[in-house]
Amino acid sequence: MMVYLMACASIMRTPEHFTCFLLLVSVIHAANYGPTDRIFLNCGANGEISDDDGRKWTSDMNASSSVGNSLASDAATQKPSVPTTPYMSARIFQSEFTYSFTVSSGRKFVRLYFYPADYAKHVAKLGVFSVDIGPYSLLRNFSAFETATNLNYDFFSKEYSVNTGSGGDLNVTFTPDPNTPDSYAFINGIEIVPHPDDIYSSKGFTLVGASGSFGIDNTTALENVYRLNVGGQTISASGDTGLFRRWGDDTPYIYGSAIGIPVAADQNVTISYPSGFPDYVAPVEVYKTARAMLPNPQANLGFNLSWYFDVDTGFTYLVRLHFCEIAPDKTKPNQRVFEILINNQTAEAAADVILWASESKVPVYKDYGVFLPLGSPRQDLWLALHPNTYMTPMDYNAILNGIEIFKVNTSGGNLAGSLPNPIPSQPIIDPSRVLPLSKSDHKGGIIGGSIGGGLAGIVFVSLVVCFLSHKGKRQKNQNSSDRTSNWLPLSLYGNSDATAKTYGSYAPSNLGRHFTFAEIKDATNNFDEDRLVGVGGFGKVYRGEIDGGTTKLAIKRGNSLSGQGVNEFRTELEMLSKLRHRHLVSLIGYCEENSEMILVYDYMAHGTLREHLYKTQNQPLTWKQRLDICIGAARGLHYLHTGAKHTIIHRDVKTTNILLDENWVAKVSDFGLSKTGPAMDHTHVSTVVKGSFGYLDPEYYRRQKLTEKSDVYSFGVVLFEILSARPALNLTLSKEQVSLAEWALHCHKKGILDEILDPYLRGKVSPECFTKVAEIAVKCLADEGIRRPSMGDVLWNLEFALQLQESAGEGSVEMENDETPLNGKSKDFNESVTDSTSITSQSLASVDSNGLTPSAVFSQIMNPNGR
Ligand SMILES: *[C@@H]1O[C@H](CO)[C@@H](O)[C@H](O)[C@H]1NC(C)=O
Ligand SMILES: *[C@@H]1O[C@H](CO)[C@@H](O)[C@H](O)[C@H]1NC(C)=O
Ligand SMILES: *[C@@H]1O[C@H](CO)[C@@H](O)[C@H](O)[C@H]1NC(C)=O
Ligand SMILES: *[C@@H]1O[C@H](CO)[C@@H](O)[C@H](O)[C@H]1NC(C)=O
Ligand SMILES: *[C@@H]1O[C@H](CO)[C@@H](O)[C@H](O)[C@H]1NC(C)=O
Ligand SMILES: *[C@@H]1O[C@H](CO)[C@@H](O)[C@H](O)[C@H]1NC(C)=O
Ligand SMILES: *[C@@H]1O[C@H](CO)[C@@H](O)[C@H](O)[C@H]1NC(C)=O
Ligand SMILES: *[C@@H]1O[C@H](CO)[C@@H](O)[C@H](O)[C@H]1NC(C)=O
Repeated sequence: MMVYLMACASIMRTPEHFTCFLLLVSVIHAANYGPTDRIFLNCGANGEISDDDGRKWTSDMNASSSVGNSLASDAATQKPSVPTTPYMSARIFQSEFTYSFTVSSGRKFVRLYFYPADYAKHVAKLGVFSVDIGPYSLLRNFSAFETATNLNYDFFSKEYSVNTGSGGDLNVTFTPDPNTPDSYAFINGIEIVPHPDDIYSSKGFTLVGASGSFGIDNTTALENVYRLNVGGQTISASGDTGLFRRWGDDTPYIYGSAIGIPVAADQNVTISYPSGFPDYVAPVEVYKTARAMLPNPQANLGFNLSWYFDVDTGFTYLVRLHFCEIAPDKTKPNQRVFEILINNQTAEAAADVILWASESKVPVYKDYGVFLPLGSPRQDLWLALHPNTYMTPMDYNAILNGIEIFKVNTSGGNLAGSLPNPIPSQPIIDPSRVLPLSKSDHKGGIIGGSIGGGLAGIVFVSLVVCFLSHKGKRQKNQNSSDRTSNWLPLSLYGNSDATAKTYGSYAPSNLGRHFTFAEIKDATNNFDEDRLVGVGGFGKVYRGEIDGGTTKLAIKRGNSLSGQGVNEFRTELEMLSKLRHRHLVSLIGYCEENSEMILVYDYMAHGTLREHLYKTQNQPLTWKQRLDICIGAARGLHYLHTGAKHTIIHRDVKTTNILLDENWVAKVSDFGLSKTGPAMDHTHVSTVVKGSFGYLDPEYYRRQKLTEKSDVYSFGVVLFEILSARPALNLTLSKEQVSLAEWALHCHKKGILDEILDPYLRGKVSPECFTKVAEIAVKCLADEGIRRPSMGDVLWNLEFALQLQESAGEGSVEMENDETPLNGKSKDFNESVTDSTSITSQSLASVDSNGLTPSAVFSQIMNPNGR
């Protein structure tokens, strides 16, 4: 490829003319591309370099370090995850700049590559700019830095599909944001790959939830916002069909604990593309893997297999779903029929892949249009599959192989939207901007930092003291209210989805809705003691109502006197405002007037998990409910540990910090003590020991070694608490029974673990399921963190236990399933092969010893080398 540069002057003709323009314009012209020409432009780099996919990237300059008003620069730092090509060099523009590519006619993928770092004197934060291609506005007021921060990515690329009329130029224009002082634009790489015009265009797509249809013609520009190989692994650019599309993993988008089951066709199975179905629609690997519902038809009726996608509102989206029936026993119509819902609207009432494709192992795809009306800037686009019972199919199940979601340009040619919603990361909000700083704040940190490993004894003593003093408090609290059975900061309540939907008026700070003190007083009837639902170290929690009683809230009012309270308040505010997960409470808002520290959450109708376990008037929870709650809580913790670049350690996992909403969905709460740990590395966070006695990781209080495995330990205690319906600590029992963790391990060693089972559950828990849950709980309590499973393994094993229970519940001992042979695998499982290998080989053994035949599904999912 030849790229040559034209200096500004040659375009602007005269120096006078030149100075008239506030924004300089210069052009890089790339010439002579035939119809199959692909352009990989490594902006700001020298020479020709190959990337990890073996593609050759060409420099956008000819051994010249400065072109017109632009500047070539290497990134100041290379984060370990960042590939060198094309990310480590950039071209920087301080005024408008156009790359002009001479291309053939037809549609092209244009991919823009960004690594927001400091470049020469230009700091990452000031890279705010617009990008246009001809009449299409791709990005406006775009900050690659904030995008990467919110997505928790180090680098990213954006993909567009545009039509270049009857040949000629494709002009990509970068313009620094005029409203940001010292702003600049930058680009690390530009890729232009022609694609067949017919892949994504059509005269009519049905609009879901609306009458009519819309078409994609040669005037439409698209932005690909999601492209997933459902149930399979990431397919890199070189694994695609010559179009260099990347197909990602779908697990981060699955909603709730019902993740179904990944399935895969045998290696020797041939996927046959029918005539009129070009190979380039999607690679074979997309069709060879899928996600299906569980092998248990009755259980499947109880849930939707759902995916949630954060998108901009005010656009129409093209949702393309790829299907291919790969289960050997599904070869005829009406064997697997399901409903497809998009944004709570029926897109397809009776999807039957075999009926559509007419044969098994033949791919088919379906396109749906969805319009998201303008509301709050972003919203979830939500896809759900549910078995169709009306058609009385052979099986109640559903399957999906791939998802592509495209944003369609508005009538004005716009594709630009807002920043993606933040997902967890290290807090970057400067709390001093938001909250009053108290002078005593820094003390805690200094004391914490100076406690060394040698002082463990003192820490231990202070814990005991702390425990005793809390015990006193607890007794007092019990007198004042029968619901306040807690002695550490009591729970927060929230519901992320309701939050996002009910409260459009989010403060720009992203910390949630700002309430005035008057509103809070009004909502709580001036902090009426009758509304008290809890008291903790931080302060009091009230039930509140707004909007004429239609919206219930939990309002946590901080003790402004407590220095620790300020810290915890701040931690919690920062953490919660960044976390969004079905199984984590999330914040609705806060109030910071009159030196009040108030956090506002959704009201959680069923209170804490502990209130439903023992010393309670409440109906005991069924075993299935308990398992679902464990799975939900495990999912929340797993998300804290791995959902973010920086591991978040909860530090205070216990049954009073697991809350239940009106649908008994478990939500992990109380992040007052949370710590973020360093990403990707297994060094620990050294810190003053905090947490709750009875749940504390022994390694943590012995050596102040805090890792995410400390949460795993506490979660093991929670599991035993649920199994046995007794407190983690019970001082009225004999010495060896005081600590539940020690007692459970003792019983396990003696082989009498079933003695600790909650009498209410006797005869209601399948022995295989009990063994499985007890086994995972014992592993969680391993003395050394390194020997404990990860939360992902715990989650996987609990889901397996649930399946054991459900198959036993139906009287079918054999793990009947319809997906054999499968060799998909669980991502969670895969994340920590060492830990899980030992667990799963044991779980297989224990299943065997109980006379169960582990099906091919599970044995293959458990095989880490499955694919
Ligand atoms: C680019 O550089 C090469 C040698 O370095 C030179 O032969 C060639 O003419 C240059 N091209 C342009 C367009 O300046
Ligand atoms: C530009 O984006 C920033 C956040 O990245 C936002 O604060 C600002 O309001 C936006 N400006 C405009 C004009 O949209
Ligand atoms: C779009 O297609 C129509 C015919 O279908 C053609 O007349 C028109 O020139 C095309 N426009 C572009 C921009 O390619
Ligand atoms: C692209 O930019 C060049 C130089 O500014 C201009 O001559 C050409 O008309 C532009 N082409 C399109 C399609 O906008
Ligand atoms: C594919 O391999 C499996 C064993 O791995 C075998 O049972 C099956 O018959 C093979 N199918 C074909 C079509 O060769
Ligand atoms: C599945 O989703 C639909 C549409 O959102 C909803 O009406 C239905 O209640 C859901 N079913 C279950 C079992 O969650
Ligand atoms: C989904 O739609 C049903 C009625 O079709 C409605 O009752 C329900 O509230 C909706 N769910 C959500 C979450 O919007
Ligand atoms: C997309 O933008 C182009 C250029 O502004 C416009 O002609 C076309 O109508 C837009 N498409 C849609 C679907 O609005």
